[in-house]
Formats: sequence, structure tokens, C-alpha cells
Amino acid sequence: MQLNLSVLDNKTTDIRRKNILTSPKLGGSCDIDSIPYLNELGIEIIESRQPIQFTPNFGEHVHRWAPYIQGFSSSFVQSVFDQYKKDYESPVVLDPFAGCGTVLVQSKLNGYNSVGTELNPLLQFIADAKVNSWDVNPELVSNLYTSIPKKLKTPAPDFLKSENQFNTGVLRNLELLKGGIDNISAKTKEQKQARNLILLAFSSILIDCSNLKRTPCLGYWKNKKVSDNAPWMLMESKIKEIYNDLKILQSSCKKNFKTTSKIYLANAMEYQHKDGFDLIITSPPYMNGLDYVMNYKIEMAWLGFTKEARDAKKVKDNLVVCDNVSKGLIRKFAQTDSKYTNDWLEEIKSNIRTNIDRRGNYRRNDMPDIVHKYFDDMYKVMDKVSKSLSPNGRFILVVGDSLIADVYIPTDLLLTRIGSELGLNIERIEKARNRYSGQVRNYKLRETIITLKKASRKRRGNGR
Ligand SMILES: C[S@@+](CC[C@H](N)C(=O)[O-])C[C@H]1O[C@@H](n2cnc3c(N)ncnc32)[C@H](O)[C@@H]1O
Repeated sequence: MQLNLSVLDNKTTDIRRKNILTSPKLGGSCDIDSIPYLNELGIEIIESRQPIQFTPNFGEHVHRWAPYIQGFSSSFVQSVFDQYKKDYESPVVLDPFAGCGTVLVQSKLNGYNSVGTELNPLLQFIADAKVNSWDVNPELVSNLYTSIPKKLKTPAPDFLKSENQFNTGVLRNLELLKGGIDNISAKTKEQKQARNLILLAFSSILIDCSNLKRTPCLGYWKNKKVSDNAPWMLMESKIKEIYNDLKILQSSCKKNFKTTSKIYLANAMEYQHKDGFDLIITSPPYMNGLDYVMNYKIEMAWLGFTKEARDAKKVKDNLVVCDNVSKGLIRKFAQTDSKYTNDWLEEIKSNIRTNIDRRGNYRRNDMPDIVHKYFDDMYKVMDKVSKSLSPNGRFILVVGDSLIADVYIPTDLLLTRIGSELGLNIERIEKARNRYSGQVRNYKLRETIITLKKASRKRRGNGR
């Protein structure tokens, strides 16, 4: 595509903007750039538009207790269960990237046992409270909440004491609210569960009380109006929501209470599962995607999961990599000998390197190694979990592709190839929706659902 550079006025002459405006990928599409990869895999992508994002969960029982914008929709998880009803009578389900527990909650609603791993302690806490408190007496939650003292303060974490984050009046009320919750006396198991539900409610109102928004990255919201009383008002309606949902669960879903839902604070790259799973349903972090620690820094700090910056860094360094990780971590990775790789990945890395050199500047010059680490991390997770998949079991991944330094990265097809190298059969790849690149805004990307299946007899190759 030819672009008349004279349209670039003085304001747009910075290197980055110029690179975007002159990108050879302008108006391009993943459909075209995927062709060689699809040919090599010998597959086609099936169109299967469906609501895949978390937003509809905001109105759904239990899911709504802690809305999580990076999650996927419960209706998608349900559609997978419905689709395979005949193949698995009562599937044992795994989500290695459990987030706020959408897969586990939906499994329990169907009476299926499930397991999750999640490395962010805040999300693990939320997911656990969402699936393991269904038999708590709603009156206890309500009574504990209404009886909290309103005069004891728990001071806010220091970095949050700024008008950028919370207005002074709001902050004072949050300190009183948290002080009250911290002073709930909980001795029995049920009282502790009820207190955890109140803490979960507190965590889920924090962004609404702040001067920030999550879309899905955390950013400032200019001119956002939050009344001083917002913490008490939002908390009251969240407690009501939990109260109502517990009542509904206890009247209509009691038979599922004995279902086990285990959510481990563990690294999916390392966790050794004991169970054999029939269905692994997951959405991994996307390449070049979100920082799951920065995005939750407010809630993590308020709930005491991070006391200082290095606590957050420690969590982040162990997650599947995002482009916001420390340079030291990536340098160390680059020096490691034993890494997963294949010819697609090597070519992608080399093209990114060439384009960064040509541009003379990119937001991360170590991007080729970040991309490499992402697939090495994902190889480790896929290797671990595919071993715990039962014969005839299915591994379903929802993932998006990326455009980095004008190089197309078919994340879905690379993960499919890894699955195939690990001995899984490629059942199908479906496109759930179109997306657009964050950099070259008219470059079309996609979000896909990958379905891999384990054969009834074991067969394994190795990409290392
Ligand atoms: C796309 S989100 C999953 C959302 C989930 N499907 C839901 O609906 O709530 C990916 C999650 O993976 C977690 N994660 C990233 N790396 C991980 C790792 N190595 N082990 C366990 N969890 C990890 C992140 O903290 C994040 O919550």
C-alpha cells in the first residue's frame, strides 16, 4: 500500500507514529498471513461466531460476584459442556489458567468435578471463594456484614493514598470499610467462608470506587465522579447480590454441593496433576497481551497479597510472559540453552529483529526473546496438562493472535502445532470473532477456539 507521507503533519513525525502510518501491514489481515501456516498444518479455520468475552457474565449468578474483564463467557463454557454431553457422562474438568474461576463455577453448576491452577493470589482467592462457599448461610453473610464496626480504620496501602487513585472522602470510607471487615471475628469454618465472601465483595467494588477504569488495562478516567459514600453503597448492593445468589443456589442446586472444585495457587508450567481430565478448557494469556499483575495492583495491595513492589514482580516473573516483564528475566531466558523452538518461531523472531533494526526503535527491543519465551512457557504448560488428559479427552483453548513490529504471529496455529507435536490430534479451529491490532488499527486479527483431542491410545512426538 502506497502512503503519501506529506499527509504526516508536524505532530505526527515521531518515529513510532510514522512507523505505524507506513506499516506494510496497513489494511492487512490474519486471513492472508495465515495461509502458509494453515497449508502446512493441513487445516482450515471454520467460521463460528459466538460471544466469547466475559461481559455477559456480569449479570449471571455467582460469576457476577467478581466481574473479571479478561475472562471468557460462561455461555461459551456451557456450550462446550453441551456439545460433549454424549462423549463424557460426567467430565472431570481442568482450567490451568483459572483466572476468576469461570470454568470451575460453570463446572460446579453442572455437577462436574473441576480443578484449576492460578498464579495470581488475588484471583486464586476470588475463584476459590466463588466455588467453595455455596453452602454458607446467606443470613450469616448479611449479619456479619451489617454488624461490622464502622469506626476502625485499616490504613490504605501507601501507593494508593493519592487523589489519582481515590478521592480523599472515598479513601477514608474504604479504610473504615476494610477496618470493619478486618475486625470480623470468624472462628468457625463457615464464619471464615462468610468473611471471605465479604472480602471478595470488597475487592470487586474497588475499581468502581476509584478514579480508574479497566478496559481491560487499568487507566485513569478523567472527570469520573465518585461520591464519598460509594464504598458503602456499592458494598451493600454486592452483599445483596451474593446473598440472593446463595439463596438461589441453596434452593435449586444443592445436589451439586458435593462436587469438588479445587483451585490451586500454582504455576501451570510446573503443577503435577494427579487426576485424569476429560476436558481441559482454558484461555491462556495472549501474546503481547495483558499484565495480570499491574491490572490487579489495587485489589492485590488492599487485600494484602502484595506488600511491596517486589512481591508483585515475583508473581509477574512466574506468569506466562507478557511484554511488561523485566528485562533481566528476558536476558536470562535468552541465555538458557534448553528452550522449545521450531522453524516458524525462528523465522518470526528473525523477522521481528529485522523490522526493529529497520525502525531503529521499538517499545521493547528484546521483543524476539519475549515472543520466544511466550511459546516456551506455553509449551511447558501444554506438555504438563496434555499428559494429564484422559484418552479421548479434549483440550480446548481460546486464544487471540498478534501483530508485533509488523510481523504476524499466528498464536493459535503455533499452539495447535505444539499440541500436535505433543501427540494430540487437531480436531478443529474455529474463529469466534474478529479483533483489530492495537498498533496498526486496521489490521484484522482473530480470536479462535482450538480443539485438540487425545487419541485412545498414547502416541507422542517431541518438538524440543
Ligand atoms: C485469560 S486469563 C483466564 C481467565 C479465565 N478463563 C476466566 O474466565 O476467569 C489468564 C490467567 O492465567 C493466569 N496465569 C498466567 N500465567 C500463569 C501460570 N504460569 N500459571 C497459572 N496461572 C497463570 C493469569 O494470572 C490470568 O488470570
